[in-house]
Amino acid sequence: MFDLKGYLNDQRRIIDAALQDYIRQLSISERMRQPVAYAVSAGGKRVRPILCMAACAAVGREQTHALPAACALEMIHTYSLIHDDLPALDNDALRRGQPTCHIQFNEATAILAGDALLTMAFEVLSESGVCAPEQEAMVWLKVLRIISQAAGCRGMIEGQARDLAYEGMKLNRHDLEDMHRLKTGALIGAAVHVGGLLGLGTAQQTERLLVYAANIGLAFQVVDDVLNVKGDPAILGKAVGTDQSRQKNTYPALLGLVESECYAGDLIDRALHALDIFDTKADPLRAIARYIIHRNH
Ligand code: IPE
Ligand code: IPE
Ligand code: MG
Ligand code: MG
Repeated sequence: MFDLKGYLNDQRRIIDAALQDYIRQLSISERMRQPVAYAVSAGGKRVRPILCMAACAAVGREQTHALPAACALEMIHTYSLIHDDLPALDNDALRRGQPTCHIQFNEATAILAGDALLTMAFEVLSESGVCAPEQEAMVWLKVLRIISQAAGCRGMIEGQARDLAYEGMKLNRHDLEDMHRLKTGALIGAAVHVGGLLGLGTAQQTERLLVYAANIGLAFQVVDDVLNVKGDPAILGKAVGTDQSRQKNTYPALLGLVESECYAGDLIDRALHALDIFDTKADPLRAIARYIIHRNH
């Protein structure tokens, strides 16, 4: 039986140590290091970097080949949370169990901390490409392209913009799904995709990983919506009930809680099915898929 708890703890330790090193090395003074470290060190489940390394291992290569990309993904994700919580966006005061960056410092510092993390991610990725053996430089270039597409106006930013524009409107299921795939699915998809690429996976393996990622990426945001209704804020580390009060478009608002949970379960089944061609090296990916629907934070 795969020990998911032990696996997640070990992976988080590896990722946290690498993130701390990057933040130390890549800032020139405490001025920005402090708010950046505050937002990153607050914790977080590290789902995207863990997925990235698990995908690398699933296709048969040592996971450390994916560690810089894993860290870059967590930097981009953390930046997106800092900005998502700003007064102009979701205006949230609690994140990862502590005051949000703009409450702890101030709004300008939070904006800059987000900018710093986003930029740092691309510094880490490009540096990895420059330092890679020549035959792998092109892989890193592809990784850069995939991550920038997923984080930008064809991915997460477009999703965030829709999330805000659609407040107070009632979306149909198709448009809701598109929005969720963009705002959350895109970066999760990129994490799995680049993990597979850095693991030098075959075309067939990559194709299956992409199906897995598309399904868990959407399921992740469906569960995030569900937890915003029925989660425990003390465990979640962020406020609940906020989607309804801001008239956000969510799965529970459209389908109800029970049907949303069933849908998340169906998506996870599809993700697991896509992994059929993999051996036990994909067990972490399988376990993470199940964890996504059973998590309580
Ligand atoms: C929260 O992401 C925001 C979404 C995109 C749903 P996570 O649930 O991964 O947040 P952390 O990193 O664990 O805090
Ligand atoms: C956050 O989505 C998505 C991104 C930051 C890209 P939400 O606004 O739904 O997530 P929480 O509930 O604040 O974590
Ligand atoms: Mg939001
Ligand atoms: Mg939010």
